Formats: sequence, structure tokens, C-alpha cells
Amino acid sequence: MSREFLPNAGPGTITCEPSARPDSIDAEAVVVFMAEGGVGMGSAAEVDAATGGLLGRLASAGELSGRRYECVPLLAAPGLRAGQLVVVGIGKREDVTAGVLYRAAATASRHLAARPRSRVAFLADGAWTTKQVEQAVAGAAVGMVGQDLYRAEPKRTRFGTTIWVSAPVEAVERGAVIADGVNLARRLVNMAPDDIYPQSFADECATIAGRTGLDIEIWDEDRLVRERCNAILAVGRGSSRPPRLVLLRYRGGGRAGQGRAAIDASPPLAFVGKGVTFDSGGLSLKPSEGMLTMKCDMSGAAAVLSAAATIASLKLPIDLVVGIGLVENMTGPAAYKLGDVITARNGTTIEVHNTDAEGRIVLADVLDVIRGEKPRRIVDLATLTGACVVALGQDVAGLFTNDQPCCDAVAAAAREVGEQVWQLPMYPDYDEQIKSEVADIKNVGDGRWGGAITAAKFLERFVGGTPWTHVDIAGPAFSEKSRPWTDGGATGSMVRPLVELARAGG
Ligand code: BES
Ligand code: MN
Ligand code: ZN
Repeated sequence: MSREFLPNAGPGTITCEPSARPDSIDAEAVVVFMAEGGVGMGSAAEVDAATGGLLGRLASAGELSGRRYECVPLLAAPGLRAGQLVVVGIGKREDVTAGVLYRAAATASRHLAARPRSRVAFLADGAWTTKQVEQAVAGAAVGMVGQDLYRAEPKRTRFGTTIWVSAPVEAVERGAVIADGVNLARRLVNMAPDDIYPQSFADECATIAGRTGLDIEIWDEDRLVRERCNAILAVGRGSSRPPRLVLLRYRGGGRAGQGRAAIDASPPLAFVGKGVTFDSGGLSLKPSEGMLTMKCDMSGAAAVLSAAATIASLKLPIDLVVGIGLVENMTGPAAYKLGDVITARNGTTIEVHNTDAEGRIVLADVLDVIRGEKPRRIVDLATLTGACVVALGQDVAGLFTNDQPCCDAVAAAAREVGEQVWQLPMYPDYDEQIKSEVADIKNVGDGRWGGAITAAKFLERFVGGTPWTHVDIAGPAFSEKSRPWTDGGATGSMVRPLVELARAGG
């Protein structure tokens, strides 16, 4: 298994210790997970015994509740070699999931990463499933990374070595690869928009593809013209940085011995990502407050790239194709205008009513290119609408589909790792709202009501009946404030669910 596809990953060695008594662990800090209602029987009980009943006494005194994401650092606990014992709560024992362990591990790790640490040990629990171990390992490696790309003095420092005690080594390795994926997406989204623009994002894709063995094609303007990607080109025209389209391919689906024909016969799973590297709104200019975080408008692109890199590193037995549309939405002299009519690659004409509804226009062409790959299912990720955030809040992604089993598979994958998603309806009545007086469709609905759905209805016109699910991540992709388990900024939303989806066979 290849690891460290993340450039500049720095330290972050992760090792395993098959089993060790808490008192013999050689580390600066030990993290133990504790459920509500006392120390129970697992690793918390072992730590309690090693420390002469410290945890039990603190629990009785009400100082340790085991409630979710409570993080209690105990210094100089008796009976341990480690100078610090961190007790992190995981809530009711029967409600512990992989997603809860991801957040709990990230919480402990984020706390400890406030200072440089050479060795930190995490105590897994023998009762955990391998998925739970994976997600806990991933959480620990994500929580120690903050938003420090541009800071002279970083606020978080990766541990030199993370030691997972009593955890199966394969699960620990997979967890580490998943964390690299999430951290890659976070890094790209956290980069300043002057550093990450269509060509530099495409360069990042090429680097990652090289490291993980993905095939890559980068379409420049000439190719986009030849391919009639007028929608992407129109949105890109207002910027001095020309648009790009990136295609990534991974072939893991051919079972050994079945030969080329068997490989070619299976239609791939497809991911599509919105990669607007900065969204000023174009001539329908955004106000300053709304524009500040618009470097996050390539979060869908970052997530699909990162998920593909993770899937390839894990060597999952599926075929995958990824399409990424990269543009900067600006107001330069050649910018596309209100009233323009664009003929998208599939021949549909689009009347532009608002240049800030640019994501759907970009995706129109990317979806059509991907449809040409004859995929079994398409899942697109996009920070598409503020309306989705109004509907579902900042922590829940919206799901929209033309095929219920496809949507159910995405929702199940998200549930598996504790990311929150909610499906919104796609009634045919909404189609009326995107009818245009002069073209086939217009790029906004009538008024702002149901804006997340009319955007999805627009996208549906470009998938040509392929089973498809659109995930609007405008809320969860980026968080202005920090949480116990993560510093503010990019979250890496939907990377883990896409990996789970691929594991479930797509
Ligand atoms: N990138 C924005 C959506 C967005 C909003 C992402 C908040 C992340 C956080 C998108 O391109 C946009 O501007 N959408 C408009 C659509 C409208 C003009 C129909 C919106 O949501 O206001
Ligand atoms: Mn916009
Ligand atoms: Zn946008």
C-alpha cells in the first residue's frame, strides 16, 4: 500500500503496537476513549487499573463524563510513563459509531497538536470493528493538522510518531491513507486563490496522479474549444487565468486472470467536481462578505481528486473516472454577460440570468464529457448554492438524484463514516422554473425559492439519463469557526463517503 501521496506531508509516521499495558507505553501522551457511564471493560478500564482507579474516581466526582468529544487532559497521572493522559468522551456505549470515533480521535489529537510532540499513543479498543479503527486513525491524523499554510508560527504541529495500540495493522494503514486524502482536500481548499487557480490546480492533479498511479488528461483552452466546451469557456472568459478540465482514470476493477475484455466490460463509477478556484460572482458581483470565503468554491474538485487518490492508494477493486471543471469566475473585459446565450457541449442552450450561478454552467460541460465515458453512476460534488445552506444549515450536504438506488448508496456511505447528508425532492414541477424565453433553459430559477433544487434540476439536463446523484456541499465544505475536532477552514467534506462508496462497489 502506498502512503504519503500528500506533498509536504512532513512527519506523521504512524506505527502499531500489537498490545501493551498502559503503564509500559513509551510516549509523551496517551489518549484513551471513554464512554458515558463509567470506565466499562475496554482500554479505559485498563488505564483505570494502571492508574490505581484514577478514572473511576474522577468519573464518580463528576469530573469525567464520557460525553461526546469531552477532552480532559490529566497531567502526571500515577502509574504511567507518559506525562499526559488525555481522556476523550465517545458518548453512550451503544451509540458509538465510526463517525463518532473519527471526531473523538480528532478532538484529542487537535488538543495535543497545540504543542510539538514526538510520540503520542492512542489506545484502540478490542471491541471496535475494523471500520471503527480506520476512522479513529483517520480522525487522529486529521485533527493534528490546522490551517497553518500561511502562518510563520503554526498553531498545530503534527506528532513525530503516532502509535496505535491494540489495533490491527491493516486497519491502521488504511486509516492513515484515508487521512492523507482528507488532509489533501483540506490543504487545496485552504490555499489562497492567488496560489491555486485552474492551471496550478491541474498541476496538483498531475502530481497526485503521478504518486498514486492515476491516468490523467488535462484539457487546455485549445482542447476545450475543440471539444465544444463552450459553457466552461464562457465562465472562464472574465479571468486572466484560463480554464482547464481534468480527467482522471483509475482501473482497479479487472479481477486477476480475467483479462482485458473483462476489464473493459465493466462500466466505471464516475465522480465530477466543481472547481471554481475563486468565485467573485462575475458581473453579478458578490458583496465583500460573501466573497471572502469563495476560495472554497473548488471544494468539490478537491474532494473528488482526493477521494480518487485514496481509492487508488487503497487499490480498491473498481474502475473509476473523475471529471474536474476548473475556472476562475471574474469580471475581466471579456467576461460573460447577463443575457448571453451559451451552447453547452451537449447542444443545450443556456440563457445567462446571473453570472454568479456559474457552477452549474461549468458542470454542464463536465457532466457531458463524463457521460461520454458511459459510467454506471455519476456522483457530482459542488459548493453549488447558498440556498442549500439556508435549507439544511452549515453541517449537512444536500442530495439530489434521478435514481433512488444511486442516492441511497451515497447516503449509506456518508452514514458509514458519520457525515451528514439529506435528500431534497426533484419533482418535475421544478423544471418549469428553469425554462427560458429565449433559450432551452436559463441558469437560475424564478426568484430564489427552492434555489438548491432548481440548480440540481439544471444539472440533471446534462446527465442524459445516467443514474446520478448531486451533492451540494456549500455548507459543510468550509467552516469559518473551529469545532472541538477541527480547526476552522476546509473540512475535507465528502472525501471519506466517496471512498466508502467505492468500497461498497460504487
Ligand atoms: N459558490 C456559490 C455558492 C456558495 C455559497 C458556496 C455559499 C459556498 C458558500 C455559487 O456559485 C453561487 O454564487 N450561487 C448563487 C446562485 C444564485 C445566483 C442563483 C447563490 O447561491 O447565491
Ligand atoms: Mn457563484
Ligand atoms: Zn460558485
